[in-house]
Amino acid sequence: MNLSKRLQMVATLVDIKARVIDVGCDHAYLDIYLTLNNDNKCIATDINENALEIAKANIKKYKLSKKIETKLTDGLTDIDVKDDDNIVISGMGTHTILNILNTNKLSNTLIISSNNDIELLRREVVKLGYIIDSEIFLFDKNKPYIIIKFIKGNKEYKDIDYEFGPILRKNIEYKKYLKSKYTKILNNISKKKVFIRLKYRLLILKIKFI
Ligand SMILES: C[S@@+](CC[C@H](N)C(=O)[O-])C[C@H]1O[C@@H](n2cnc3c(N)ncnc32)[C@H](O)[C@@H]1O
Repeated sequence: MNLSKRLQMVATLVDIKARVIDVGCDHAYLDIYLTLNNDNKCIATDINENALEIAKANIKKYKLSKKIETKLTDGLTDIDVKDDDNIVISGMGTHTILNILNTNKLSNTLIISSNNDIELLRREVVKLGYIIDSEIFLFDKNKPYIIIKFIKGNKEYKDIDYEFGPILRKNIEYKKYLKSKYTKILNNISKKKVFIRLKYRLLILKIKFI
């Protein structure tokens, strides 16, 4: 099947043979791909009835109805989460993701791709007792995405780790992207807005030393 580059990269972080809980599965393409290629068992969930109906139709098309469970639910409500499950949450904003993670039982492995507020996401998930195991930065159809794998553990992180990512801050492609993003913003700020321009100049400088 033709999985987007973004979801293919999410799939690379999933543990082989783990049971996957794909929260907000939408079309369930990830679940279909993981079942066919990675031998994962999947629970595909969504809060939206129409999305889940489309997911069910796609799963049926690939004759995987016996292998992929579907569930209409808000986040992890009524899902019996086990320690070894991989919880995947991708394509939502950080606030929605943090609401979903605000539950009694989480697994040891979370794979998350948020649309915004990545610094807040890192800080809050680390507070829940996780460390940042992997970080992927990619462009898919010219849009930048970050995917983070968190695993249970404790580690002290610096502010710079939360802001840029303990792994991504060493990633040349990511740093190039940030420099070009901040330079474009700087070039569009009026010369009169001295302090805002200074903020972006400092950010561009900071990227050199992270
Ligand atoms: C943009 S789609 C992302 C689909 C897929 N995960 C991906 O990365 O391509 C977001 C999906 O999350 C679902 N969603 C939003 N909030 C949710 C929640 N609290 N619980 C479960 N699903 C949710 C939406 O209905 C939608 O289908």
